Amino acid sequence: QSFFKPIQNTAPPSPTKRHTKISVIGVGNVGMAIAQTILTQDLADELALVDAVKDKLRGEMLDLQHAAAFLPRTQILSSTDYSVTAGSDLCIVTAGARQNPGESRLNLLQRNVGLFKKIIPPLAQLSPDAILLIVSNPVDVLTYVAWKLSGFPSNRVIGSGTNLDSSRFRFLIADHLDVNAQDVQAYIVGEHGDSSVALWSSISVGGVPILSFLEKQQISCEKETLERIHKEVVGSAYEVISLKGYTSWAIGYSVANLAFSILRNQRKIHPVTVMANGFHGIEAGEVFLSLPALLGRGGALAVTNVHMTEEEAQRLRDSAKTLLELQRQLEL
Ligand code: NAI
Ligand code: 2OP
Repeated sequence: QSFFKPIQNTAPPSPTKRHTKISVIGVGNVGMAIAQTILTQDLADELALVDAVKDKLRGEMLDLQHAAAFLPRTQILSSTDYSVTAGSDLCIVTAGARQNPGESRLNLLQRNVGLFKKIIPPLAQLSPDAILLIVSNPVDVLTYVAWKLSGFPSNRVIGSGTNLDSSRFRFLIADHLDVNAQDVQAYIVGEHGDSSVALWSSISVGGVPILSFLEKQQISCEKETLERIHKEVVGSAYEVISLKGYTSWAIGYSVANLAFSILRNQRKIHPVTVMANGFHGIEAGEVFLSLPALLGRGGALAVTNVHMTEEEAQRLRDSAKTLLELQRQLEL
């Protein structure tokens, strides 16, 4: 005797409905902020969680499962064994060491490369058609590492990059002008972190290009405000880490937003870490850093020809050089 009495002659489930599976590796502050935001967006039929610490992993899985009555239906699984990730459409990697107060992201490199050697090969093997979305720091160099270790084409290996820095930038500009951050179009490109490049020349608010507007009005002191805002963006994570120990909510929303654009084939432009060789005068080698990229179901589909002044392009090439030197020191 079953709980249900079946309805006779029902049609089989439609074969056109795609089953979507997302895996999140690392259930620390960042992994869990991403997982919970993804659940609220009704983005996945299946969510697989992996971590090295068994009890914490099961605890986090149960805690999310207990919210089932308030969320769209998603099957949530977890295991320390990577087989739980098999057949994923999107694998989001957040595992690894994080900064201590005052420590730079680049300082985490050696520790996290070691972890990636254990994490990326099984992920790639079990989900050969997946898109890899890297979040662990330093995110740009680790996206390169994930590309090398996975053997995937570069369009399917993306880093969360300066999507977060650009959101901080947009928030601060919006706050200064007292407008909605969604009306502010502004990009930070290059390294996620200390050598990031603010593209002043392309900032617009409600379609009004900001720099030419300020010049026409001869509001020169505003340029200093913009410089101060970029400094504040670069200092943001350091400030939050010194206050609460880690950053989590903004990166959670940032990555869930990227996951949405990718899996729902939105063809939206996001500043994210991509293979940058050949774009915007970067010719020095296979370097990964953030550029405004078109995201869809195939991953990173194109890089936009965003306007850059010569000074901005030079800063971007300098950022590329810094990252390339680090990449070259790695033994993979
Ligand atoms: P956390 O310490 O809270 O979590 C890290 C998790 O990784 C832990 O649960 C740990 O058990 C797990 N882990 C360690 N080794 C593992 C392995 N071999 N396999 C599976 N899991 C493993 O750290 P938090 O705050 O979640 O940060 C995670 C990473 O995200 C850090 O590298 C941090 O710098 C980075 N991050 C990146 C941002 C970005 O914008 N790209 C923003 C915020 C953080
Ligand atoms: C952030 O920018 C720490 O990379 C991390 O929040």
